[in-house]
Amino acid sequence: MLKIAVLVSGGGSNLQAIIDAIAAKNLKAEISVVIADRDCYGLERARVNKINAVLVDRKLHKLDLSKQLDMQIPCDCALIVLAGFLSILDSKFIQRWSGKIINIHPSLLPKFGGAGMWGMNVHRAVIDAGEKKSGCTVHYVTEEIDGGNIIEQSVIEVSPNDSSETLQKKVLELEHPTLIKAIKKFTKEVA
Ligand code: GRF
Repeated sequence: MLKIAVLVSGGGSNLQAIIDAIAAKNLKAEISVVIADRDCYGLERARVNKINAVLVDRKLHKLDLSKQLDMQIPCDCALIVLAGFLSILDSKFIQRWSGKIINIHPSLLPKFGGAGMWGMNVHRAVIDAGEKKSGCTVHYVTEEIDGGNIIEQSVIEVSPNDSSETLQKKVLELEHPTLIKAIKKFTKEVA
């Protein structure tokens, strides 16, 4: 059984997608732990679903945040999912878990990725650039922000009426099935 650690910083709808896929037997996996770097609704979702939930406050552990996170991840975890996780992981952490960390990003990488490209900033930039298409990407995490190999990508049309808010909603809905597809692909690749 694939054991997963999920790292969150916000609403946790992608975490919920994993929880639901497991419950529906659409994904053969088990969430070992949910870790948040701040108090957020994602933590609450974990608690409601009786999943081990840990807060590793980024403000308390500025320099050793990655080390503290690492200490909360069981050694037998085969996959770490960054599901809206906003803190930057250090190179030691990334090397230690190399090939086992994936991230979901709300754009068609390599477009609209990199430093500062998170949350609404991404959707605003897509609208401002007059893009006809947007979407989401699940990729491996390397030391280059949003730069690792792509596992799965889904595309939607940007309509002329879209605002960054409506686009964000559309992309977030698309993220959920995309993340599940990516985890399944990952499972096959490492099997
Ligand atoms: C998603 O848009 C994800 O791509 C980005 O942060 C958002 C998290 O949403 N990295 P949620 O917390 O999973 O609802």
